[in-house]
Amino acid sequence: SAGRRRLIVGNWKMNGNRQGNDRLLQEILQGWNPLKDTDTVICPPFVYLQQVAQALKSCQIMWGAQSTNAEQAGAYTGEVSASMLADMGCRYVIVGHNERRRLQGEDNAQVAAQYTAVLDAGLIPILCVGESSEQREAGQALATIESQLHAVIDHAGLESFAHAVVAYEPIWAVGTGKTATPEEAEQVHGFIRETFGHLGQQLTILYGGSVKPSNAAELFAKADIDGALLGGASLNAEDFIAVCQHA
Ligand code: G3P
Repeated sequence: SAGRRRLIVGNWKMNGNRQGNDRLLQEILQGWNPLKDTDTVICPPFVYLQQVAQALKSCQIMWGAQSTNAEQAGAYTGEVSASMLADMGCRYVIVGHNERRRLQGEDNAQVAAQYTAVLDAGLIPILCVGESSEQREAGQALATIESQLHAVIDHAGLESFAHAVVAYEPIWAVGTGKTATPEEAEQVHGFIRETFGHLGQQLTILYGGSVKPSNAAELFAKADIDGALLGGASLNAEDFIAVCQHA
């Protein structure tokens, strides 16, 4: 991975409750050891950010949010701004997750605006890109990813990615148990890296989509895969720790 640090991000999605979170965090803290070249982040639902922040206070695991609104403040009922997240001590924010693109109708332009808002707040955006199975079957995987990336590059500039992370999540591999093969993932990661030209070698690129302890090592063995964005595996302490240790 050419001297790049590893990064493991757990995306809890809309899961958890106070008691269950406490148990999960306790188990993670008991089993987790800081790794020299790996950063670890947990992204719970907004309402539990403070609970997670509190639990992780004296350990090196960082926390992040799953989304944000692109506006700073104002009449946006139900929304949370990046500056509010920064105010709370947040470090990372996932933007453009395929579930938000598909289920909340977020388009490339909104994702780009959110990405900029996250950077402006001094936080690190984790920009998610990835194709559907139909797009892959039609030979449109790379073109899809390219347009998702360019929407953000055109808006925020290539250089902004010195402070960002990209996550490749093929939609057909998310929550399905069906992982991209390490070769399939590596091909896309290489393509993403090339898209960034001279900045590509520094860019952290995560893979997401049914990563688990049994497939993490072979994915992380690929030169262009710098870590993982975990869904299901981040809800189980043993799996989460095991994936971190493979990194
Ligand atoms: O953001 C993580 C993600 O979408 C992958 O989910 O459950 O397939 O690991 P999962």
